[in-house]
Amino acid sequence: AERSSFVVVANRLPVDEVIVDGERQWRPSPGGLVTALHPVLAEQRGTWIGWAGGAGEAPEPFELEGIRIHPVPLSAEELERYYEGQSNATIWPLYHDAVETPVYKRRWREAYRIVNQRFAQAAADVAAEGATVWVQDYQLQLVPAMLREMRPDLRIGFFLHIPFPPIELFMQMPFRAEILRGLLGADLVGFQQRLAAQNFVRLARHLLGLRYEGQSIQVDGRKVKAGAFPISIDTADMERMAADPGVQARAKQIRAELGDPETVILGVDRLDYTKGIELRLKAFRELLADGKLAVPEAVMVQVATPSRERVEHYQTLRVKVEREVGRINGEFGRVGMPAVHYLHQSYSRTELAALYLAADVMMVTPLRDGMNLVAKEYVACRASGGGALVLSEFAGAATELKQAFLCNPHDPDGVKDALLRAVGAEPSELKRRMRVMQRHLRTHDVAEWARTFLNELGVTEREPAPEA
Ligand code: UDP
Ligand code: G6P
Repeated sequence: AERSSFVVVANRLPVDEVIVDGERQWRPSPGGLVTALHPVLAEQRGTWIGWAGGAGEAPEPFELEGIRIHPVPLSAEELERYYEGQSNATIWPLYHDAVETPVYKRRWREAYRIVNQRFAQAAADVAAEGATVWVQDYQLQLVPAMLREMRPDLRIGFFLHIPFPPIELFMQMPFRAEILRGLLGADLVGFQQRLAAQNFVRLARHLLGLRYEGQSIQVDGRKVKAGAFPISIDTADMERMAADPGVQARAKQIRAELGDPETVILGVDRLDYTKGIELRLKAFRELLADGKLAVPEAVMVQVATPSRERVEHYQTLRVKVEREVGRINGEFGRVGMPAVHYLHQSYSRTELAALYLAADVMMVTPLRDGMNLVAKEYVACRASGGGALVLSEFAGAATELKQAFLCNPHDPDGVKDALLRAVGAEPSELKRRMRVMQRHLRTHDVAEWARTFLNELGVTEREPAPEA
């Protein structure tokens, strides 16, 4: 196989394989990890190892926009146990403050181990001598140690895109020590938040008795560094998209289709219980009931992109969200004029940009979120200065976007207050808030994120761009 000096290993590839009328097609895959890594990989011309979406045999490696794509296969059983089970019914809820109860099963754990070994092997096969391998996210926490065992010559980084839990929560996990040892196989372990990095080093002492100094842990005579590297978006690209006349025309058209209301309130999320979609809908309903907002002057648009649909937590969430939407429309809608426009569909980046431009208020209200790129995308789109962002304090983005209308998603009255303040704010105030946040995102974009992480990992910028 062709070898690469820069390799990213992630559960998801940037594209998903879908079979339409018996023919293979590729479509962009969902989520913030792909949004962030795609521009980084395109610049580095590296190899991306990941799962292509389906079950069974993996497609042959191929080239996509300068990125070498290396698919890893998952069987139907592994999909169920490693992806839906251990990754998304055990680790995902646990790491998000157990907002849903994590489920623990030994056979899921075993599948997780086997699949992590496969990803590690793929990286060992593809990486050139002394290469840099950057492992991503909670699905692959055992890969760093497995890979180090096979290829001690490599420089190994790991980045966790989601929160890292406090010690008490982490200790619930039956194979907690194995996970921790897996992560400690890396030279650098990156998190979204400073607190998460602190949780990690303290956990290493608590669980394995390891010594640390600052953010540096001693492991078998090696040093493992931990640190915070808040991820971001390709800000310039988002700004370019928002300035495109076609996108702007589409935004106008969306507003017209909504009946040209005074206030368009928007939510864009994967349909996930961490995102606080229900509490946002409830806040809107109660404000309508109290007469603080009225249809058709105010309407809400909620994009709820289908996600992990075979996992039970997600099925119950869908029922609850759709019941709430039905209730609101039943009480406050009229013929031809629903109060909530609910879209259980996946949207392209340009259509999302048009939606961002069409929205007066963007509601991002997760109970817990590693970062939340949607919040950053909305801000980057609003170069003309209008628009208000209502943002949960429990999203990583709140550490940076301090000029948003911040709220505590656990406090329903607080969410309603924030929404009303956002709706009623003066244009000059909104402009001022947006300008500060935009300036932040122009410097702190995803290229800076990658550069900072890779520098800390010891990959110097002067090295020539790695060729595939
Ligand atoms: N996104 C998309 N189409 C959709 C919904 C979302 O392209 O229908 C993108 C969105 O623009 C953002 C990412 O998916 O870049 C979501 O990232 P975020 O960090 O907000 O949440 P995650 O899904 O990773 O939890
Ligand atoms: C979040 C996770 C990613 C994941 C994405 C989409 O952003 O951090 O690792 O890829 O959600 O979820 P999915 O299960 O469809 O890959």
